[in-house]
Amino acid sequence: MGERWTPKSWRHLPIEQVPTYPDAAALGAVESQIASFPPLVFAGEARKLKAALGRVAAGQAFLLQGGDCAESFDEHSADNIRDFFRVFLQMAMVLTFAGGSPVVKVGRIAGQFAKPRSSPTETLEGVSLPSYRGDIINGIGFTEESRVPDPRRQVEAYRQSAATLNLLRAFATGGYANLENAHRWMLGFVKDSPQSSRYQDVAGRMTDALDFMRAIGINPETHPEVRTTDFYTSHEALLLGYEEALTRVDSTTGDWYATSGHMLWIGDRTRQPDHAHVEYARGIKNPIGLKCGPSMKADGLIRLIDLLNPENEPGRLSLICRFGADKVGDHLPALIRAVEREGRSVVWICDPMHGNTIPAGRYKTRPFERVMQEIEGFFGVHRAEGTFAGGIHLEMTGKDVTECTGGARALTADDLQDRYHTYCDPRLNAEQALEVAFRTAELVKAERSHVERPRLDAAE
Ligand code: PEP
Ligand code: CO
Repeated sequence: MGERWTPKSWRHLPIEQVPTYPDAAALGAVESQIASFPPLVFAGEARKLKAALGRVAAGQAFLLQGGDCAESFDEHSADNIRDFFRVFLQMAMVLTFAGGSPVVKVGRIAGQFAKPRSSPTETLEGVSLPSYRGDIINGIGFTEESRVPDPRRQVEAYRQSAATLNLLRAFATGGYANLENAHRWMLGFVKDSPQSSRYQDVAGRMTDALDFMRAIGINPETHPEVRTTDFYTSHEALLLGYEEALTRVDSTTGDWYATSGHMLWIGDRTRQPDHAHVEYARGIKNPIGLKCGPSMKADGLIRLIDLLNPENEPGRLSLICRFGADKVGDHLPALIRAVEREGRSVVWICDPMHGNTIPAGRYKTRPFERVMQEIEGFFGVHRAEGTFAGGIHLEMTGKDVTECTGGARALTADDLQDRYHTYCDPRLNAEQALEVAFRTAELVKAERSHVERPRLDAAE
């Protein structure tokens, strides 16, 4: 690893998952163009998220992170963004209320375009072509032409990210996100759910709480905090030329920040400590995520923590664990013990999606119960180790797709063909995502109720 970090010091190091662009000059021209574009997010926002994640690390808040596996150019519409945001807000509300914990909201959105692939080629009916690597790199169409990496796609990804972010900022601050809206939508979900009775109690208590607030004069008109929310963006920092072009010095601190999104993570396939992706991430001051799959060992993890969070800054590093429902109990305890032994501050996040993908005919799917089992296993291990399950990281959409099996409507493998729309991995649909939120809220509540809270009479 080079000593001195610069936004381009990663370029001298070995790199995985890198596309081969046929025209290096065209790529360079696009990177220079993007380097001249305005930042998408600001350093101060990234610092605010880092502080919020510091509270998650300390068990004082819970993180909800989620969105598409891969955003796409074709599905870029106000309706899709609105539907996602709506479900996400409801989930956050359920987790806040039923879990009794503030919720930090981070979308996999406004920049989640580049995909690492297990195989460099894809074969269909005897024809092999380069794999699809996300809309920022090549096209999903199964033709030779479409699979050639095209740098102009980076400009389109920037443009789409800016438009998405603009709408999200408007939703988050312009009144749409007010608690009463989220509550009304949530009641609609509970009424229609086949599992309605399971959610009735929490929904009823939420209604009472809002009625009480209204009665004492706390409403969206009088209290801005009831009508606005903090919402942050995140994506995998995979396409480093694009990230470099959007890496800027913060004028107030002189530090470098990635301005393509608030939080960036390193994928499970690109976390080699002496390679390019870790080098890039170590120098930016944003909150960083690190995917931890079954091949992550305790000593390797500590080495990565040394590189990525040498100052042991709370909120800087989130470990996004994705072992699989049947493996979380085998792998997570050793990692937690190493982190505790070394006294490192991290946010522990459960990604219950990527270790639970199974084939179903010509589709990939994820059984809802396996997703829940991994989350339950994750909480169980933290409970046993005396540490905090800090958050969940989901692949989800606001639409009624049929990509994951199970859930209250008991989708089967035969249903997948109805509305299987994902550009990459299968996502929870809106109802399944809300079910995860309700069930996770019960786990958060149980976890947090073990923690000493200041008693009212203690202040007397
Ligand atoms: C993803 O989050 O879509 C992904 C590819 O994850 P991982 O790096 O954990 O496989
Ligand atoms: Co994915």
